[in-house]
Amino acid sequence: ATARPSTLVIFGASGDLAKRKLLPAIYELGREKLLPEKFALVGYARSEMSDEAFRAEFKQAVEKFARSSKSSVDQTLLQRILSAVYYHQGDYGSAEAHAALATKLEDIDKKHGTEGNRLFYLSTPPETFEPIIENLGKYTAGFGRRAGDVGEVKTDSWKRIIIEKPFGIDLPSAKELNSQLHRHFKESQVFRIDHYLGKETVQNLMVLRFANSIFEPIWNYKYIDHVQITVSETLGVGSRGGYYDKSGATRDMIQNHMFQLMALVAMEPPASLDAVSIRDEKTKVYKSVRPIRPEAVDQFTVRAQYTAGEHAGQKSDGYLKEKGVPADSKTETFAAMKLFIDNWRWSGTPFYLRTGKFLDEKLSEIVVRFRSPPLTLFQKQCDSPVYPNDLIIRVQPEEGIEWRINGKVPGGTMNIKPVNLDFFYKTTFNVEPPEAYERLIYDAMLGDQTLFIRGDEVEAAWAVIDPIQEGWRKSKLAPRTYTPGSWGPKESMQLIELDGRRWLHSGDGEAEPIV
Ligand code: BG6
Repeated sequence: ATARPSTLVIFGASGDLAKRKLLPAIYELGREKLLPEKFALVGYARSEMSDEAFRAEFKQAVEKFARSSKSSVDQTLLQRILSAVYYHQGDYGSAEAHAALATKLEDIDKKHGTEGNRLFYLSTPPETFEPIIENLGKYTAGFGRRAGDVGEVKTDSWKRIIIEKPFGIDLPSAKELNSQLHRHFKESQVFRIDHYLGKETVQNLMVLRFANSIFEPIWNYKYIDHVQITVSETLGVGSRGGYYDKSGATRDMIQNHMFQLMALVAMEPPASLDAVSIRDEKTKVYKSVRPIRPEAVDQFTVRAQYTAGEHAGQKSDGYLKEKGVPADSKTETFAAMKLFIDNWRWSGTPFYLRTGKFLDEKLSEIVVRFRSPPLTLFQKQCDSPVYPNDLIIRVQPEEGIEWRINGKVPGGTMNIKPVNLDFFYKTTFNVEPPEAYERLIYDAMLGDQTLFIRGDEVEAAWAVIDPIQEGWRKSKLAPRTYTPGSWGPKESMQLIELDGRRWLHSGDGEAEPIV
């Protein structure tokens, strides 16, 4: 499909996300010939800057961060994109600045033939969402525009809005943001982004499950012992302490990214691949999660903060000493939880989730652990334990899928070891997977909402998180602690080990297969 002519307006154009991800993604889309011929971009931010200066920043961002820039930048293409790049200075809540933006966009339509189609990308701090949405609704987009507002309404043109996370901090705030959006935009115009859904390996999850016939029959409580999802990061919060402390690992990673992974693993086969069907199924998963009662929070969850230490080239005096973090903060830099999805497929099958900053390795993976064979026939003759089968979906790094099965070690005695059947993107397809933002921006230009979060879906996800946050607020247990470079606090190990299971990575001698 080709996207129609359009203008992308990025709010927060001088921010980190724009530089590292969004601007390079636009260039890559150009390289892949996925940008419409008639395309313009307006960077909107608070600081004074000329169009020229912004173009220079754009160029720098591409040269530094574009995925293909290692193999040199196509300057002709870049110049062609830059010739339709503009900068707009203004406060996010300023009516004049928005009115001026509306005029600028009309001029751009005339000059570049962008036909009044507009994609607004809110890559700004959450407190600016409201004023931007209000002003957009009033001046440039939305269906709530009144006669006399600036600009001409073209009925066949589209206006869409992409919203970065955090989408609220709990259920009430998410509902409020949804209703505010819906005052000006139809749900079909709203694209709530979760960059995990743009990752190639995450999209492959559905292919794995629904384009193969060998998994689905065993994809349930009868054959799967449990699922574990780990998203670990090696860096501490660094200079983001002020922002991070208001959020914490659960809001920053679990409610969005990890819940998306869980939903894609757990959902029922959708009626079709359209946005409605897929998002219906994901929403059903959240609604089926058994709520963790606030009183039971210490039984099913672990929260922790890192102590002083050094890892991955970063040094810290501990989370509580980070800049911007109050000394008595209870915000977790690590969280683990055990969830149950109360439906026919997953009855009694735990989903263990954990995530944290300053951990041993950077990785995102889903481990589907199968039950042991009904009879442990070989166990008596083997020196080493017979491991259960794992299907490991590696979201990053080393994107791919790993199957661990048991094999006989050659020789006169019966010795069994886990061996791997592997699929790695790099070796199989010989390409680096594209950046998540490329796919997502492209889909938004096409109007395809499949990989974006629907309003009721985000609310259903918060409804799972809220009682946990409430439990933590009331709990007498202080956050646990862990050392930088570890796999988290020992309580996270206990959470799973008391059930007779183990995290695939726990730092002390995991079952390493022979590759
Ligand atoms: C962001 C979080 O949404 O995701 C960050 O705010 C986190 O704290 C990042 O580092 C992780 O993304 P990725 O793609 O590197 O796994």
